[in-house]
Amino acid sequence: MSLVGKIERINGSLVVSQFEGEPKMGDLIEVGNLKLMGEIVRLSNEIAYIQCYEATSGLKPGEPVLDTGMPLMAELGPGLMGAIVDGIERSETDLWELTGPFVSRGTNISPLNRDKKWIFEAKVNVGDRVSGGDIIGTIQETASFEHRIMIPPGQSGVIKSINSGEYSVTEIIGELETDSGIINLTLMQRWAVRRPRPIRERLPLNQPLMTGQRVVDTFFPVAKGGAAAIPGGFGTGKTVTLQQISKWADADIIILVGCGERGNEMADVVAHFPEISDPRSGRKLIERTIIVANVSNMPVSAREASIYMGITLGEYYRDMGYDVVVLADSTSRWAEALRDISGRLEEIPAEAGFPAYLADRIAEIYERAGRVQTLGTDERLGSLTLIGAVSPPGSDFSEPVTTNTLRFIGTFWALDSELAYRRHFPAINWLRSFTRYMGVASEWWSAQDREWEEMRAKALSLLEEASQIEETARIIGEKALPDEQRLVLLMAEMFREGFLVQNSFHEVDTYCEAEKQAKLLKIMIEFYNTVNPLIRKGIPIEKVRELKIVKTLMRLKENRGVEPINSARLEIQYETDELAKEYEVK
Ligand SMILES: Nc1ncnc2c1ncn2[C@@H]1O[C@H](COP(=O)(O)OP(=O)(O)OP(=O)(O)O)[C@@H](O)[C@H]1O
Ligand SMILES: [Mg+2]
Repeated sequence: MSLVGKIERINGSLVVSQFEGEPKMGDLIEVGNLKLMGEIVRLSNEIAYIQCYEATSGLKPGEPVLDTGMPLMAELGPGLMGAIVDGIERSETDLWELTGPFVSRGTNISPLNRDKKWIFEAKVNVGDRVSGGDIIGTIQETASFEHRIMIPPGQSGVIKSINSGEYSVTEIIGELETDSGIINLTLMQRWAVRRPRPIRERLPLNQPLMTGQRVVDTFFPVAKGGAAAIPGGFGTGKTVTLQQISKWADADIIILVGCGERGNEMADVVAHFPEISDPRSGRKLIERTIIVANVSNMPVSAREASIYMGITLGEYYRDMGYDVVVLADSTSRWAEALRDISGRLEEIPAEAGFPAYLADRIAEIYERAGRVQTLGTDERLGSLTLIGAVSPPGSDFSEPVTTNTLRFIGTFWALDSELAYRRHFPAINWLRSFTRYMGVASEWWSAQDREWEEMRAKALSLLEEASQIEETARIIGEKALPDEQRLVLLMAEMFREGFLVQNSFHEVDTYCEAEKQAKLLKIMIEFYNTVNPLIRKGIPIEKVRELKIVKTLMRLKENRGVEPINSARLEIQYETDELAKEYEVK
């Protein structure tokens, strides 16, 4: 560690220091006698501007500033699964144990536990030639998760020694003979969080990420390895939706990044998450989840790092060959941290006070999503799906964080305060949301049902048509509309109640498997196709509305499995035949 200089002045989380030597942008700095952690965010005229991760009160001009010579790194290795770490990867539980709920500043603990021993099973032999990304052994880290120990990117050589056994993360498990000498192998590696981890090749997306949430999977799917944003005002359901995805998505690993402003918001997640059971394994979801969150008293600037930390962890598991989902709640807090630090640097503000490079930073984040062939010689595939909540002030989607995010994502779930107010949940507006992954999704869904694409399009067009008819109905009253239009309104109501609304607290309906989604969609369309001709032949809409099957269809989602959907089909036939007979139209 080399001396950089002395504190000149302090402005909130920004510390300005004169320096000697040659510090670099992004270098991790120890600030003041308290040894607070920070990062160089600007260098000019022999002055370093350091963004501090902890509250700077009590620091004084003249105190020393030390350069670690390295950027903010993530420690990667066994011991993270199930952990709750802050934006600089300190375990929140360890911090609490050490200092209590009000974490004292300058508590610099190692991210990975140095004492814990892991049972390592070697998968390569002495004499094997290996390079970056190759798996050299495994550890059963939790019952739900096999940790694959890889050669770090950039290294290659011949295995000189390797032994299965019990090791801590820093103990030597073997040696690698490289061109430039012998390197010790350990269970741990490091990676600079702001740099994407290297891959062999980016692959086209080829599968939707199934979440068991109908409005998502059927109408606005995200691809595995894709990116999605969920903007919404206060209380519209961002956190609940992300939690549902973390619980039900067909992914191996979940990384939950909480950039929340209010400490208690995250504290709530942290308190409840460990109790959530994992539908995949029947065990606890936390066994394959990492939470990156600041529940302690860290300033805004620390939150800026959390998202990069979360993505880097995600990339590490992707590189093992897993499907990873990284959920960030919410990226607006991250952007606000960026704005805060930019303001203190006295940079020229652009729109809404955000720095001009906001768009670039958002792009950099979402570009780290992808489906890839990983490094390593065994042709492993992995994916990282990135989903970010956005909290636009006053639910105004034209603000810069929302609009810039829109440019770089493939799926947009527009939360709607009006729907949330009416307790239509998930409050995802079906007219304002979109997906660019329809090609990928259609192919997958068509294997479930050949007519899927057509049915989805029909449902959406009925919903759209209904919203236009509603406009007219508001003026002239629904009763004055022609019955064909009133049927469209009825269908929209049935789609809303029977399909789009999905209560995440309902025992059965919290999750809807793909087969059930496809069958629900199909039976709604079949109902429409059956009654539409009857209406055209003059049977009054009231009569159709009174059919028992209408109520049944709206509640089918609450039944387990697809059997009740099959029997509802017979009911449709029976009831409409009866109705037709009554009016002698068949
Ligand atoms: N799918 C859902 N099913 C049932 N209730 C829901 C659903 N989504 C949201 N809610 C209800 O809406 C409330 C607010 O949701 P949530 O906390 O996710 O909003 P938020 O957008 O994260 O709010 P904030 O802006 O405060 O972070 C929940 O407590 C719950 O009652
Ligand atoms: Mg929330």
